[in-house]
This record gives sequence, C-alpha cells and structure tokens, in this order.
Amino acid sequence: MSNQADLIVGLQWGDEGKGKIVDHMAQTHDYVCRFAGGHNAGHTIVVGEKKYALHLIPSGVLNPKAKNIVGNGVVLSPADFIEEMRQFDDLQGRLFISDKAHLLLPYHAEIDRARERMKGDKAIGTTGKGIGPAYGDKVARVGHRVGELHDPKKLSEKILAHFEMNRAVFEAMGVATPDPAELLHELTAYKEALEPYITDTTLLVWKALEEGSKILLEGAQGTMLDIDHGTYPYVTSSTTVSAGACSGLGISPKAIGKVTGIAKAYCTRVGNGPFPSEDLGEAGQRLRDNGYEYGTTTGRPRRCGWFDAVAMRHAVRINGVDQVALMKLDVLDGFDEVKVCVAYRVKGEEIDYVPYDLEDAEPVYRIYKGWKKSAGARRFDELPEEAQEYIESLEGLIDCRIGIVSTSPEREDTIVR
Ligand code: GDP
Ligand code: IMO
Ligand code: MG
Repeated sequence: MSNQADLIVGLQWGDEGKGKIVDHMAQTHDYVCRFAGGHNAGHTIVVGEKKYALHLIPSGVLNPKAKNIVGNGVVLSPADFIEEMRQFDDLQGRLFISDKAHLLLPYHAEIDRARERMKGDKAIGTTGKGIGPAYGDKVARVGHRVGELHDPKKLSEKILAHFEMNRAVFEAMGVATPDPAELLHELTAYKEALEPYITDTTLLVWKALEEGSKILLEGAQGTMLDIDHGTYPYVTSSTTVSAGACSGLGISPKAIGKVTGIAKAYCTRVGNGPFPSEDLGEAGQRLRDNGYEYGTTTGRPRRCGWFDAVAMRHAVRINGVDQVALMKLDVLDGFDEVKVCVAYRVKGEEIDYVPYDLEDAEPVYRIYKGWKKSAGARRFDELPEEAQEYIESLEGLIDCRIGIVSTSPEREDTIVR
C-alpha cells in the first residue's frame, strides 16, 4: 500500500472548528490541500494574540514549512484570493492553485444575491459569494477554469459571448454586461497576480504521495451542507464529504488514510433550513454568547442548539470517520444540564436515522449533568468527571472514538487522547 493522506472533514453544518485542527495537524504535515467550496468558507486560527480568518488559502499556511494546494474541486474568486494572499509575504513556492479549479467571477455573486432576493422567505441564506452560480456553470459546462487566465483576451471574449447568449437571464437578474476593456484589464491583473501559482496540482499531489510526503486534506463546510447528503435545498453546492477529496484533487479512494471528523460539543448552523436540535430560548442564546457564534465570513449570528447524535452517526458513516475531534467543549461550561438529541420523532414515530426531509423531525433528548469548567484543559483526566462522562457517552451514541477534545481557540488547548 502506498502512502495515504489524512483527511479533515466537518460533520455538522460547518464552522465546527476545522481551521484550528488543520492548523494543529499542519505542524506535522508537508502539504495541506483544499478540495471543495470557495470563499464561503471561513476557517479561524488563533495563534497567541493573532487571529487569522482564512477563506480560500489552506489552513496550513501558518506552518512555514507546509505547502498549500487549492485543488480542482474548489471555485476560486481571483479578486478575493489575491486580497487574502496579501496577509502573507512568503507564498512563492508553497502555494499552488489547480489550473482545473473553476473561476468564480463577480457576476456569480450578483446572480447569487439576485436569486436569494427573488426567493423571498424561501431564501437559502447563502453567503452571497456566488458559490451556487459558479458550481452551476461548472456542471452546466459553461464555466471557466483557472487555466484560462493564461490568455486573458480569449477568456474575456468567452465571458462576453456567455453574456450575449444568456442576455435575457442576466437582464432579468439585473446583472449588467461587463465593459469589454474593463473586463480585459481585470483578467490581466488576475493573470499577473496568480500565474506564478497556477499548476497541475493533481500531478503535484501524486508526486507528493509517491515520495512519502505527509499530506493533509482540508474539508470545508460540513456534511449536513453536502449537495447530496445534506438538508437539500438548504445546502451548499459542493461535495463536502470525504468522497469530495478524491474528485476535488484527483486522487483515488485508496489514497485516503485516516479520517478525522470535526464536530462541536453542541451544534450550530448559519443560514436557513431544518435544524432539529436548535434551541431558540435562553440556552441557545447562552451558547451563542459563550461560543461567540457569529459567522467568520458574513458576521451573521449562528443558530445554536444541542449536539445531534443522529445526524452525527449519519456523518460518521458517510465520511468513514476514524476519530472525531470534539470542539468547543468549554462553551458548555457552567450549564446545569446539557442535552443531546438521541432520536427524532417524525409524525409520531421515533426514528434513529436522518430521514428524507428533516423539516418535520422533532428532537428526542437525553439530559446530562453539567460541569463547571473544562476551559483550557490539556489532558483528558483534567476534565471534570461529568465532562468525561459526556464525551464517553457520545462515543457510544455516534459509534466512533473521540480522539481529540478542544477546550479553547488556542493551538495548545487541545487534548489528544
Ligand atoms: P471552521 O469553519 O470549521 O474552521 O470553524 P470557524 O473558524 O468558522 O468557527 C470556529 C470558531 O470557534 C472559531 O472562532 C475558533 O477560533 C473557535 N474555536 C475553535 N475551537 C474552539 C474551542 O475549543 N473553544 C472555543 N471557545 N472556541 C473554539
Ligand atoms: P466553513 O468552511 C457554515 C452555508 C450558508 C448557507 C449554505 C449555502 O467555514 O465551515 P453558499 O454560500 O455556500 O451557497 O451557502 O451553506 N455555508 C456555511 N455555513 N460554514 C461554512 O463554511 C459555510 N459555507 C456555506 O450559510 O446556509
Ligand atoms: Mg467557518
């Protein structure tokens, strides 16, 4: 068996704390690769006094020795990527962008926002970044790839032809056709800034695998936002589950080694759609305050609720999770009792799996005794007994080992069991 890559994947509705764990693991990896999503992602990393919010650049960037790959499964907004690159001055030779990644251009964001406006109270609550329209164009085979930036003139002509062909749609959405000279100018600027980083990243990853390099695959979003396995249509437009790493980078399933699934010790969701264990009362507000649950990308308050063991079991199975990293345990500190959703009640019947539509699912809770303080703990035996029991009980409910527990945003406050 040749070398295999380690995979990090979100198990809930995103924002589980993937950034912290990728950064933690990146210290011992040679490559960190993003394989799906775009700048809808917001991965926060805290190092001492400094806080980084990464959207497109892989979270390995803070390890100066790690090389970072943006795979073909990503949709890349050149303008936002270039802006994000400004935070770092040493990216040459350690940042690589797939020539097969699809371009996300300003008109995609305009369409995204227009569609959301038109949907009114049925809006998905997207990040408004243009993710759906960019992936839509890719699948409809009318998208443009990063490799086309090599010839801005030709690309600008293709984009203008696309506008011409879809004039009625763009007009209905209120999206103006770009001025040809401005468009060419913009694409030329993208080419100049990004060309040194554009390459065939599939060959690069194959070579790294063959050489025995340690590779970490960084998922974005979460399993319940997956285009196939999430709460459709309240999902994102990519394959967020571990299978997405294969197509999103061009590696075989056999090249995937250890899978670490990331989950909060409770649960959050941004945007609309079903969330059975949401708590709309005082407890939910307290989780939001304690966990500072506001979106990294949009600043929106996150909806908060309890750990959903049913959805989690579904996620463990879909992703082939070997170990779970349980994040933000400290946010539950001080609660008298902590609830866990252990089943759903749908039309009077109790079920233990994720049904076709989660909209009608009511949570069935098990109550746990709370604890005073887990914050800052770095060893499992430093945790209050009740917190240890909570974690051990969750392992049984989700049918997976919890190998990592996180007790603060800081790198060091991480228990590895
Ligand atoms: P990601 O999208 O999965 O990378 O997660 P985000 O960065 O969007 O959101 C997770 C938030 O929780 C960030 O602000 C992190 O700094 C923070 N965080 C991560 N782990 C912990 C933890 O164990 N405790 C607390 N209190 N905050 C954490
Ligand atoms: P990270 O990687 C949380 C959500 C949006 C919306 C839905 C569709 O930080 O975990 P989109 O803009 O993708 O079309 O929006 O998906 N969403 C996320 N929620 N974390 C994310 O990324 C998300 N990326 C998209 O809020 O509900
Ligand atoms: Mg996030």
